[in-house]
Amino acid sequence: MIDLFRDLKRTDYCGDLRKQDAGREVTLLGWIQRRRDLGGLIFVELRDRQGFVQVVFNPKENPVAHEKAQSLRGEYVVGVQGTVGLRPEGTANLKIKTGEIEIITKELKILNISKTPPFLVEDVEEAAENTRLKYRYLDLRRPAIQKNLILRHQVAKEVRNYFDRLGFLEIETPMLTKSTPEGARDFLVPSRLNPGHFYALPQSPQLFKQILMISGLDRYFQIARCFRDEDLRSDRQPEFTQIDVEMSFVTVQDVQKTMEGLMAHIFREVLGIPLTTPFPVLTYDEAINRYGVDKPDIRFEMELKDVTQPLGSSAFQVFRDTLQGQGAIKAINVKGGGTFSRKEIDDLASFVYAYGAKGLISAKIGKTGWQSSIQKFITEEERKKIDEKMEAEEGDLLLFIAGPPKMVNQTLANLRLHLGEKLGRISKDRYQFVWILDFPLLEFDEAEGRFVAVHHPFTAPKDEDIPKLKDHPEWVRAKAYDLVLNGSEVGGGSIRNHLREIQSLLFEKLGMGEEEARERFGFLLEALDYGTPPHGGIAFGFDRLIMILSHSESIRDVIAFPKTQKGTCLMTDAPSRVDPKQLDELWIKVKEIKNS
Ligand code: AMO
Repeated sequence: MIDLFRDLKRTDYCGDLRKQDAGREVTLLGWIQRRRDLGGLIFVELRDRQGFVQVVFNPKENPVAHEKAQSLRGEYVVGVQGTVGLRPEGTANLKIKTGEIEIITKELKILNISKTPPFLVEDVEEAAENTRLKYRYLDLRRPAIQKNLILRHQVAKEVRNYFDRLGFLEIETPMLTKSTPEGARDFLVPSRLNPGHFYALPQSPQLFKQILMISGLDRYFQIARCFRDEDLRSDRQPEFTQIDVEMSFVTVQDVQKTMEGLMAHIFREVLGIPLTTPFPVLTYDEAINRYGVDKPDIRFEMELKDVTQPLGSSAFQVFRDTLQGQGAIKAINVKGGGTFSRKEIDDLASFVYAYGAKGLISAKIGKTGWQSSIQKFITEEERKKIDEKMEAEEGDLLLFIAGPPKMVNQTLANLRLHLGEKLGRISKDRYQFVWILDFPLLEFDEAEGRFVAVHHPFTAPKDEDIPKLKDHPEWVRAKAYDLVLNGSEVGGGSIRNHLREIQSLLFEKLGMGEEEARERFGFLLEALDYGTPPHGGIAFGFDRLIMILSHSESIRDVIAFPKTQKGTCLMTDAPSRVDPKQLDELWIKVKEIKNS
C-alpha cells in the first residue's frame, strides 16, 4: 500500500497557497494532520513547514483516490496532485491563512505510514512539555515552532550580511579550551591523551576574541555556542548561542552605534519594522533608582520614587525604624488603582512577601485625602509632600515598601512588572530598547568575602575612576554596557583593559595573586605585553533575541533540541552513564552515587 517515490516534484508549500492560486495544478508533499469523513467526502489537512491546507477527496469525481484516502491516518506522509479550488460559498474559514481554498485531488500517493503519535501534532499545545521533548521530531513538525526556527535562520543570515558589509570577519574559536570566567560553572571534558587534565567548554569566546584583537584582526564576529553550568530558567539554557563581537580602536559610543545599526538592520530586513536610533540610555544608578532593576521594561511608566523623606521621620514606627536602620522607603503610583478591591490589594501583599518584604502599605487617593491604614500617623504636610512627589491624583493607588534598599528595589521592580501586566499597560507589539551604562566595576561578594567582577575581570574602569581603584574599588564604574529589550537583557559587553598594569591591579583587587592570574590567564597577560590595541566588544544572547522577536514564552521554543530545566535531553537521554571502559581510558573513577 506504500507507493514508490518517483517523479513527485513539489510545486508549492501547502501553507503558502491562497485564493489567487485558484485554478492552478499543484503537487504537494507533506504529513496528514487530520482526516474527516463528511457526507461521502473525505477532507484531510495536509501539513508542511509553511502550514496546512484542506485536501478533498470526492468519490464521484475520483473513486480511486477516495478509496485510498480512507486508509489515511495522522502523520502519514503523502503526495497529492490536484487543482486549487475556492471553497464553496459559506464554507471559507478566514481564521486560517489557507481557509478560502481547498485542493481537489487528482492523485494521491502514500509515501509512508506512521504509528499513532503520542500527541496530536497541532499548534494547540495540549501535550505535556516532557512528552513533546521526548518526541521532539514530532513536536518540531508544529508550524509555530518551525516558524521560530525559520526566523532564527533569517536573523542569523542578516547578522552575517550586516557584519560582512562593515568588514567584520567571522572567525571560529575553540570548543575544547581552558576555563573562561563568566560567573558560571564550567562544563569539563577529560583529556584521554593527558591523564587527569581537563578541557573546559567555553562560557563565551571572551579571551579568544581579545587575542584576535591583539593579533590585529581588528573586527571580529561569530555566531558562537557557549556553555554554562548554571541554574536554568525560562530564558536560560546550559548550551546557548551568542552573537559575539569584538572591535579594535573603539570607544563605548562606537560599540553602541555599531550594535544599534545591527538591531535596526535585523528589525528592518526580517520584521519590516523601522527602529529609531540612537536608543535611550540610562546609567546603572538611574535604572536602579527609577525601576529597581538593571534591566528595566520602559514600555510603561509607574516609576519607583524614593519617599524615605519625609516618611522616615513620620510618626509611623515601621518607617522610623527603617530610616534608623539605613533602609529605604520607596513607592509606586498605580494610576487609577483606587478601584482595586480589598482582595486585590491583599493579593498584592502576598505577592511582595515572596521577595522578602515584611508588608505592603497602600494608600488610595480619595477626594479629601488618603484612605490608608497609616493615615493617622502622617501629617497633612507629609501627605502633601508625598502626593507631590508621587504625582498623585484622585483615584490613584500608592504602594509603599520599606526595608533594606536592595530588597525594596527588587520587590517594587517585580510588583511594577506584575501590575503592568495585570493592568494591560505593556504594549505587546512594541520593541523598546535601552542601554544601561556606568555599571559598577566590582561588587563585594559576602559569601566569598571578596570583590567579584560585575561583568568579567577584563572590563576596563572608567578613566576618571582609575585613581579610586586602589583604595575604594567599590566606587569604580566600568566602561561596560548592557542592551535591554522589553525588560530582558539581550546583550552585554565592555571596553577591555589593554594596559597590563591595570589588568594586573584588577586581578589583585579580585583577590587573585600574580601566581593564580598567571596560572589561569597567563597567555592573555603575556599577550598584553606585546602591543595590545585599545579594544572592546559585546555579546548578544541570540536565543533570547529570537524569543522576544517571536513572542515565545520559553527559550526552548526557539532552540531545535533544547535541554529541560534539569539540563537533560529527553529525546537522546543525555547525559547518561558511560561504559566503564571509556572511563578507564580517561583515568576517571565515578564515586558511588546514593539514590540513583
Ligand atoms: P554575558 O555573560 O553578559 O557576556 O552574556 C551575553 C548575553 O548572553 C545571553 N546569555 C544567555 N542566554 C541563554 N542562556 C544562558 N545561560 C545565557 N547566559 C547569557 C544574555 C547575555 O546578555 N563575554 C561577555 C560579552 C562581552 O563582554 O563581550 C559575555 O558573555 O542575553
